[in-house]
Parts: sequence; C-alpha cells; structure tokens
Amino acid sequence: MSDTALLSIGHRALPDASLPGVADARLLPDTEFQEAWASIALPTDMKDRMLRGAVAGIQLRQAVPFDAVPLHGITLLTGEPGVGKTTVARGLADKITRGLPSDPPWVFVEVDPHALASASLGRSQRSVENLFGTVLDETASVGPLVVLVDEVETLLTDRAALSMDANPVDVHRAVDAALVGLDRLARRHPHVFVLATSNFPDAIDPALTSRADTVIRVPLPDRTARRWILEHTVTAIVAAFPGARSLLTADSLDVAADHAEGLDGRRLRKAVAAACSRNPEAQGDPNRVTAQDLLDAIGHARETS
Ligand SMILES: Nc1ncnc2c1ncn2[C@@H]1O[C@H](COP(=O)(O)OP(=O)(O)O)[C@@H](O)[C@H]1O
Ligand SMILES: [Mg+2]
Repeated sequence: MSDTALLSIGHRALPDASLPGVADARLLPDTEFQEAWASIALPTDMKDRMLRGAVAGIQLRQAVPFDAVPLHGITLLTGEPGVGKTTVARGLADKITRGLPSDPPWVFVEVDPHALASASLGRSQRSVENLFGTVLDETASVGPLVVLVDEVETLLTDRAALSMDANPVDVHRAVDAALVGLDRLARRHPHVFVLATSNFPDAIDPALTSRADTVIRVPLPDRTARRWILEHTVTAIVAAFPGARSLLTADSLDVAADHAEGLDGRRLRKAVAAACSRNPEAQGDPNRVTAQDLLDAIGHARETS
C-alpha cells in the first residue's frame, strides 16, 4: 500500500485509516458525532458560540484574503482531562457540516499524534510530512475537510521546553514539519477546519497557539451541567435496568449534583456506574442501586480525584 492510499467512498476519497497517524476517517455529517454533540453539557450558549465562531471563520476564510484577515482555520480547545473536549470537538465537526452543506461531502480525519510522535528515529518527521503535506493536502484538494488533532501537545510540543536527552532533534523536526503542514493547508485550502485539543496548553509550542484563531477553555461542569450529566447517565441506565429509577427523582438528582462539585464529566458518569456496585446486598444488580449509593460513589470519586 502506498503512503498516500485513499479509499474511494462514493465520490469522495477517504484517507486510509491504517496510515500512521490517522485515527479515524469518515464522511460528515455523521449520526454518531451528532449524538456526541447532544451528550455534552456546557455553560449556557457556549456550544452555540463555538459553532457560530467556526462557521463564521470558515465563511470569512473562503471570501477574504489571508493578508487582510489572517485566519488559519484552527480552533484550540483546552481544559482539564474529562471535561468533554474530544467529544464536543467531534460533535462540532458534525454540526459545522450540517450548517455548511457541501457536494462533494465534508471529510473528517482524526489525527493520532501519539502514533506520529512514537515513530522511531527520523520517522516522525517523515510521517508528519506525509500526513499533513500529502494525505490531508490531497484530501482537501477535492473538497472540504475537518481535521481533529487530539492531545495536540504530543505533536506540537513546546520546542523551548525540550530537554536535550530525549531526542530533541527529531522532535524539533517533527514540530517544524507539523507547522509547515498546517500553514500549507491554511494557505491552499480555505475550506479546511482544524480542531485541536489539549489537557496541557502550557506544553504546546507557542507557534501553534499563535496560529489558533480561537482558544476555548472548556470548564469543569457547573451545577446545571452536573445535574444534566447525572440525569443523562441515569436515564440511559434506567432504560436497561428499570429498578434504577429511584435515582431519577428531582430530589436525588439535585442532592447528587450539589455533592459532585469539582468532578469532571467523565468522573461523574463513572460515579453513576460505580454506584451500581456499591451495596453488597444488591450483588451487583443495577436494578437495586439507591440514591445513597450514588452519593457514596460521588463522595469516593471526589476523595480520589
Ligand atoms: N460537559 C460534559 N457533559 C456531558 N458529558 C461529559 C462532559 N464532559 C465530559 N463528559 C463525558 O466524559 C467522557 C470523556 O469526555 P472526553 O470528551 O473524552 O473528555 P476530554 O477530551 O476533555 O478528556 C465522555 O463520555 C463525555 O461524554
Ligand atoms: Mg480528549
């Protein structure tokens, strides 16, 4: 298989998901990503603002010269682990394409920076060049493209902070190659939209941060979001285990949401699952979970986070 293998789907070719650094490739819109968007609760209006910013940016880039409005088409989502960055990024990719329909359809490519960074000596740079300079460039030449670079600090590591012992020359070259690749995509293809996420924004090379059109800090869920996440998670469990419906009372959800302050969305959802196994008498039957089990599980999650 060549390094630029493209699989033809309908009249749009998708990059081969087995290429180094390609975690996922699909056409958009996509119902799985639509559900992802709906499953994330953020402070009022935050998702709408994200979407409006992305759509306006794409329209401006297509119509206004780069020299006048230097938009790179890059949005960076930062925040603690488990606050929903990756999920909301996938959902945003879907939403954008519903707002800006295209023929040929939009393509989505998720880049796996870990796979690129772990390539052996000298290979990182070549893999990055191949992915950004050839595969994504060829894909974007045919039609619009959303690229998600999850945990971008792995690929665009702050060069100033590199110690000399790791393998800095190779890392430097890979970072340079990624920046050159992003610049080239931005210059040549106004309909490429790049979403990057990071748990460690301080570890990102400033050259990427300065290219980002928007940096959005995704917060820990507030009380309203916590209550919504709890209700969403419990509702899914009740659909399969109706006995768990005692958790769905307004009172139980209110108290649990108050109790869960400081937990991220991932821990919150896991705490609901953990509640199902807390009571020894229930013998692991989720039908027998109680509101107190949920409070205990949330308390435990807070102590250990
Ligand atoms: N604000 C939120 N609303 C609803 N669910 C959330 C939220 N934040 C995180 N989650 C859930 O937690 C899990 C992890 O989310 P993820 O997108 O991987 O977070 P991150 O990329 O920030 O580490 C997912 O199942 C997601 O649905
Ligand atoms: Mg993530």
